[in-house]
Amino acid sequence: MNKRILIAYATRAGSTAEVAAVLGESLSSRGFAVHVRPVKEEPSLEGYQAALLGSAIRMGAWLPEMVKYIKANQAALQSLPSALFTVHILNTGQDAASRAARLAYLNPVRLLLPGAEEVFFTGKMDFSRLSFVDRLIAKAVKAAESDQRDWPKIRSWIPAALNT
Ligand SMILES: Cc1cc2nc3c(=O)[nH]c(=O)nc-3n(C[C@H](O)[C@H](O)[C@H](O)COP(=O)(O)O)c2cc1C
Repeated sequence: MNKRILIAYATRAGSTAEVAAVLGESLSSRGFAVHVRPVKEEPSLEGYQAALLGSAIRMGAWLPEMVKYIKANQAALQSLPSALFTVHILNTGQDAASRAARLAYLNPVRLLLPGAEEVFFTGKMDFSRLSFVDRLIAKAVKAAESDQRDWPKIRSWIPAALNT
């Protein structure tokens, strides 16, 4: 029987949803039975053999609805192979400072799911998809519009959690 995998994601402007959808297609094509769901729907973990959880970064942190979901399902998630994907646009370098800064995005989540595999994907900044407040913040920090998603990297990610 095909392994059933849940991909749950949290997004504000849609780019993480698109990353989750492509991950879903990629893993389906490798024979997994994948369901991709927004975390706001609070998907049940019952019947899954692995969970991939992903969030956009806002102001240095995973989105609150995903953190809330992990807290609410912590026991179930701890007994399920799981992996975490982060979609962000700053601190993308390979230098130590950049790496430390992006790893810090996961600090609260890592406490809840210690040992879960982590991957970081560069995201997209599209002002037309931002809320009024987010657009103000983006302009205040002089963010530039860009789509930095690395689709080959996203498509080639096969979490170790799926091999258990
Ligand atoms: C208001 C705002 C704050 C952001 N803060 C961060 C941040 O602290 N670090 C980072 O790496 N990216 C940050 N980003 C970039 C987003 O994480 C990136 O654009 C991501 O692709 C958005 O995902 P979404 O389209 O699913 O919401 C921020 C974007 C906005 C609009």
